[in-house]
Amino acid sequence: MSDFELAAVSGEIPPGGRKSIFVDDLPALLIRIENRYFAVEDVCTHDGQPLTDGQIIDCQIVCPRHGARFDLATGKPTRMPATSAIRTFAVEVRTDGVYVSPDAPPAEPEAAAVAASIPAATPIAATAPVAGDSPVGAGVVVGDITDDAVIEALREVIDPELMINIVDLGLVYSVQQTEGKVGVEMTLTSPACPAGPQIIHQSRTAVERIPGVSEVEIKLTMSPPWSPDRMTDAARDQLGIF
Ligand code: FES
Repeated sequence: MSDFELAAVSGEIPPGGRKSIFVDDLPALLIRIENRYFAVEDVCTHDGQPLTDGQIIDCQIVCPRHGARFDLATGKPTRMPATSAIRTFAVEVRTDGVYVSPDAPPAEPEAAAVAASIPAATPIAATAPVAGDSPVGAGVVVGDITDDAVIEALREVIDPELMINIVDLGLVYSVQQTEGKVGVEMTLTSPACPAGPQIIHQSRTAVERIPGVSEVEIKLTMSPPWSPDRMTDAARDQLGIF
């Protein structure tokens, strides 16, 4: 049976505010967005960073360390490098204050609507990998260079946070080439990814090594933003996501 305890008295947390609390001896955050309250575990599942000061964006809390995001309603990760959910707790607003229970909150339509508002992966160029499919390109040949050769070269670039190559992670959106000039459009798992400069540098170097390549342009984009849906089955297996 639910065991609600008073976590904040009425009016204690202003809209947009938060309070550090304990739920079942676990550090947690009670967050108010307009007139809704969310109670979530205060520990990032990626590497244990407290989420206490994490920015709130679109009903998600951002880990201050590597930029993972978690849906406040469901606790599910919406941005890498986190792949596991944080705990969420049931909240009741009563006349004297806000009460929190160690139980998970009931599923509700509003929460589902929040989850649905997270940008979904959009179709990507034919030469880029589709989640679950082979990421190898269509094999278009221009001179001595093929899309497959570019994709295979990019497979050598490993995301140092996740130890998975950037092709299987779904970071490569498209490849274009004309007479030895290769353009790669790619993204990062988050705009704040600390490994971004390293990944871009290594991508450029990997493509430059292909015989016949005279020029490489790496175009970084955050639109559409990366999401775990873009990973291939191989990457999911490696991360233990099913
Ligand atoms: S510790 Fe939170 S994203 Fe790495």
